[in-house]
Amino acid sequence: MSGSVLDRVLNGIGDYVSRRSRHDDRRMRFFMLPRDISLFVKSARTDARIARISRAAGPKSAFESVYRESNDPWASASPRYRYQGLKYDRLVALLPERRFTNVLDLGCGLGLLSQKLAGRADHVLGMDIAESAVERARVRAAAFPNLRFEAGDILNLPPTLLGKFDLIVVADVLYYLSPLNDAVLQSVIQRIAGLLSPGGVCLLANHFFFSADPESKVSRGIHRAFSRSLSLSVLSEHRRAFFLATLFSERALPISAA
Ligand SMILES: C[S@@+](CC[C@H](N)C(=O)[O-])C[C@H]1O[C@@H](n2cnc3c(N)ncnc32)[C@H](O)[C@@H]1O
Repeated sequence: MSGSVLDRVLNGIGDYVSRRSRHDDRRMRFFMLPRDISLFVKSARTDARIARISRAAGPKSAFESVYRESNDPWASASPRYRYQGLKYDRLVALLPERRFTNVLDLGCGLGLLSQKLAGRADHVLGMDIAESAVERARVRAAAFPNLRFEAGDILNLPPTLLGKFDLIVVADVLYYLSPLNDAVLQSVIQRIAGLLSPGGVCLLANHFFFSADPESKVSRGIHRAFSRSLSLSVLSEHRRAFFLATLFSERALPISAA
């Protein structure tokens, strides 16, 4: 089958999947090429390796290892695959139409999404648990004067960041937290909400394939926990091929009378 015929067939399957999705934007186009399927295989291998090393040596060593073993463990910068780049564009398109002052990209990896955010903001800070990712992100972003990167763990962020950001993006990060129980999620949500300035927004995105597979269930659980939080209000929810994205705004809690 020629590439273009195969692409048309896959586009057709994608349109069918999107029609079946309850919350889908009906104008959504399927945006994978056949070769993007190998991207998911590569990512699954990376994730399996992270889980294995994490059990023995903890998450920081696991992420450092995969970044040392591969220049681009999730092929987020590879021109071979177009899924990741288009996903970043789609995520940025979900943001409110305004310019942001201070943006935080939590779990930024190589900083590809941070670079896209740099076009919408005065200052962008990318943070990642893996120092090797941060070093590589800095090199890649040398031409972006408003973009900087620091090493940091979502579970242990410096108090100097509290209340600083009018936009926080957390894309494909939280399902790596282990254990990912309700207490951990609630504490992460409180931390993220605490980093937002009044009226600030948070864009949460996680991969989502079909309702029944275990990974998609984890993603749905994360989004549900955020949606139920008293510290955040849901502005909009999106299901796309192949991710969930929810936009939240900071909700100032009333100070209870003594
Ligand atoms: C799948 S990559 C996603 C990278 C980026 N957000 C993107 O969309 O291209 C997951 C990233 O999360 C980072 N990460 C995992 N756990 C983290 C934590 N506890 N704190 C900060 N970063 C973390 C990893 O090092 C890795 O770079």
